[in-house]
Amino acid sequence: MSDWSPKSWRALPIKQVPAYPDMSALAETEARLASYPPLVSAEETLRLKAALAEVAQGKGFLMQGGDCAEAFAEHEAGTIRDFFRVFLQMAVVLTFAGAQPVVKVGRIAGQFAKPRSSDTETKDDVTLPSYRGDIINGIEFDEASRIPDPKRQEQAYRQSAATLNLLRAFSQGGYANLENIHKWMLGFVSDSPQAHRYETLAARISETMDFMRAVGITADTHQVLRETNFYTSHEALLLGYEEALTRRDRRTGQWFATSGNMIWIGDRTRQPDHAHVEYCRGIANPLGLKCGPSLTPDGLLELIDRLNPENEPGRLTLIARFGAEKVGEHLPKLVRAVAKEGRKVVWSCDPMHGNTITAAGYKTRPFDRILREVKAFFDVHRAEGTHPGGIHFEMTGKNVTECTGGARAIRDEDLQDRYHTHCDPRLNADQALEMAFLVADFLRKDVHAPDRIAVPA
Ligand code: PEP
Ligand code: CO
Repeated sequence: MSDWSPKSWRALPIKQVPAYPDMSALAETEARLASYPPLVSAEETLRLKAALAEVAQGKGFLMQGGDCAEAFAEHEAGTIRDFFRVFLQMAVVLTFAGAQPVVKVGRIAGQFAKPRSSDTETKDDVTLPSYRGDIINGIEFDEASRIPDPKRQEQAYRQSAATLNLLRAFSQGGYANLENIHKWMLGFVSDSPQAHRYETLAARISETMDFMRAVGITADTHQVLRETNFYTSHEALLLGYEEALTRRDRRTGQWFATSGNMIWIGDRTRQPDHAHVEYCRGIANPLGLKCGPSLTPDGLLELIDRLNPENEPGRLTLIARFGAEKVGEHLPKLVRAVAKEGRKVVWSCDPMHGNTITAAGYKTRPFDRILREVKAFFDVHRAEGTHPGGIHFEMTGKNVTECTGGARAIRDEDLQDRYHTHCDPRLNADQALEMAFLVADFLRKDVHAPDRIAVPA
C-alpha cells in the first residue's frame, strides 16, 4: 500500500476535530507518545482477527461491550473487576446457549474519545465547547475544563496501560478459570433477579467440569479452562493519538494500531474519502464500522472496498445501530447487498445508539427497545440466511440507574439515583446479565446452531 502511511490521513478532510489552542504542545505530546511502548502486541491482535474470521464464517459469536466513555475519575480496580466479572458471566451464558466460541472484546483500556453531534453545549445562557471525552477535555461545565489539553492523551495512555495490566491478570492469572464460575457470583448483588438463573447454569457447567475431570481434562492440564482471551477495543476517533501508537510489526511487516486490538469507525466519521477511513484502511487490525440509518447499500459496499479490499474474513465487523424502529427498514437491504457481493464480514448488533431518548431530563435507553432491536437483528439474519455474528453493548458492572426497565423495572424517576455515565447511558450489571440470557434465547433458535443445549430458564 504505497500511498498509505500512518500520517496520510492528515492530508484529507476530517470531522470531529478538537480545537487545541496550542498546536506545538499537541505535537510534543504526540512525539512523546510515539516513543512509548505499544499497549497491545501484533500477535494478540492477529489472534483476535483469526477468531473473528471464524465468526465471519458462522462459527462463533462476538461479544463486545463496556463504557460509552472511560473516565479518569473512575479509574479503580473495583470498577474494572466488576465489569470483567459481569462480562465473563454474560460470555458463559452465550457460550453455553450458542454452543460456539464467544470472542470477548471490551470497550475498555482506550475508549476515551467521543464524537459529538454539536461542537458546543449551552446551559443557562452560557455556551462552551462540548465535552469530547477525558482524552481531550474535562466534563465539568466551565471554560477551563472544556479547553482541549494534549496532556490528557498521556493520562489516557497510562490509564489504558494500567487497566490492561489488571485485565491481563484477571484473564490469565486464574480469575477467569472456569472452575471459579460460582465465585463470579460472589459480591454480585445477591438479590439480583438473574442470580438464580445464573446459579443454575453455573451448576450445570460445574457438573460438566466434574465429568471432564473424571476423564482427565482439568484446568491444570488444559489452558482453555484456566484462561480466557480477552481483547480491547475503542473508537479510533483521535487520529493524532492513534498515529503516535501505530507501529510496524517486524515479523509481518504490517502496520498495527497498538492502542487496542480492535478499533472501530464511528457513525459520524465514516465518509469514504475522509481521514478516519484513510487511517483505518492502512492498519492490519480487525476493524469495526458503525452502520447507522444514513448508510446506503452502495455506500456500504464502497466502504468495504476501501477497508477490506482483499475480502479477508475477520478484518471487518459491521456494527448495525439503527434503533428498534428503523432496523427492520435498513438492515435487510445492507445484509442482502453484502451477501450478494460475497463480502466476508461479521455482522454485529449495537442496540444502544439508535435507542437513546430523554426522560426526566436524562438521556436514557429503555430496556425493551434495546431488546427489540436485538430481536429484529436476529430475525433479519434468520430470514436472509446469514449469521447474526455478535452483539455490542454499553454496559458497566456497577449498579447504576442509566437505562430504564429490566427485571428491576428502573423507572424514569429512578434515573437520578445513580446516573454516573460520562456520556451515554449503560446497562447496569443486572440489566447486562439479563440481556445476555435473552440473547441466549435468540442464539439457541439460530438456524446455524440447530441442535441446541437448553439454557436453564
Ligand atoms: C459509541 O459507540 O459510543 C458511538 C458514539 O457510536 P456511534 O458512532 O454508532 O454513534
Ligand atoms: Co455511546
